Amino acid sequence: MILGLDVGRQYIKTVTVEKLRSGGYKLINASQRLIPEQHKAFDPEEVSRPIVVMAIKEILKQQKVNPKRARNLVSNINGTNVSVRQIMTMDMATEELHSALTFEARKHIPMDGTDAVIDFQIFGQNPKEVDKIDVGMVACTKRVLNGHLDLLKEAGFKPGIVDTDPIALSNSFALDQDFPEDGVIVLLDIGAVSSSLVVWGKKDSFFTRDIPVGGHHFVKGLSDARKMDYVTAQDELYKDGVDAFNQSNGSQEIGLAEAQRTVFDNLVEDVRRSLRYYAKTTNQSFFQKIYLTGGGAGTPGIGDYIQSKLNIDVEVFNPLAALEGTEGQDIPNPGQYCVAVGLAIRGGIVA
Ligand SMILES: Nc1ncnc2c1ncn2[C@@H]1O[C@H](COP(=O)(O)OP(=O)(O)OP(=O)(O)O)[C@@H](O)[C@H]1O
Ligand SMILES: [Mg+2]
Repeated sequence: MILGLDVGRQYIKTVTVEKLRSGGYKLINASQRLIPEQHKAFDPEEVSRPIVVMAIKEILKQQKVNPKRARNLVSNINGTNVSVRQIMTMDMATEELHSALTFEARKHIPMDGTDAVIDFQIFGQNPKEVDKIDVGMVACTKRVLNGHLDLLKEAGFKPGIVDTDPIALSNSFALDQDFPEDGVIVLLDIGAVSSSLVVWGKKDSFFTRDIPVGGHHFVKGLSDARKMDYVTAQDELYKDGVDAFNQSNGSQEIGLAEAQRTVFDNLVEDVRRSLRYYAKTTNQSFFQKIYLTGGGAGTPGIGDYIQSKLNIDVEVFNPLAALEGTEGQDIPNPGQYCVAVGLAIRGGIVA
């Protein structure tokens, strides 16, 4: 059994799978738990480590999992605190590459006074430039990594494998879908505090960016626009989605339409900018489809909204569809489990 543990900033998600002889995976269970107090406005600044540890312990108790016995654990560091990039570099000895990449990594992660830690994998010769190689690199700071390891220890785990959100999302997608022959696909995981964008294709390079907009900003936007408290706004948003901004009486309507534009368009504009950057740096501008995941993907109407603004097909992706044993299980908002599924799968690849 492999446990994928997604430590989000608002929800803990767990996905337990069993690797089958066929090479596929069977879902044992998927669960989620709110980290902060229920029925209260969510404030990411108020979520301290003891609260997260408590939530992890509670969800494990619910699942009857003893963390000390969990041998195959894969957990994550979110996309805000890591840098995942594909880099083209001169072919050189591994030692040398390590120090060159560590130097490079410092440019891409928010430094906090501790050293950069990196991990990398050589993909092979660059198809266009003969003396260069393509390398996939993951980097974060020592403080971020140690903070995560301490969290796991406090929850009672031995650390296991530590992965990152963008890679987990990609693994989860690749389990279910083939990449198209031409062009690239876009994954957009709409979390609470931020969203992870991943662009990837069969023949094109991997790109990811963390976008500082998530479901929390949708709720706050609606709560400000319709002058309702956070929890009421959240209920309205889950029920009416994008249209929740249009429901009011008469005179206020124009203001509300504007508020809607701001909150969803902040996300759309960041996606647009990232795709433009990708097209410019890779010469690939054929974006086949945008797949939405994360809790925020459950916002009614958000897919159509993004599709109408960007003119790219949008679909909500169900990461559980690729797993066996999900028939008859009614799991609401399955897109929320995409990272946790990808983490669990990673455990299967290594095992
Ligand atoms: N049914 C739903 N409909 C709409 N939005 C939802 C629904 N359920 C959860 N959300 C929203 O999804 C967000 C939480 O999603 P998710 O669990 O992916 O975030 P997280 O992983 O905790 O956050 P982050 O990735 O930013 O660290 C919240 O903003 C929440 O309001
Ligand atoms: Mg998340």
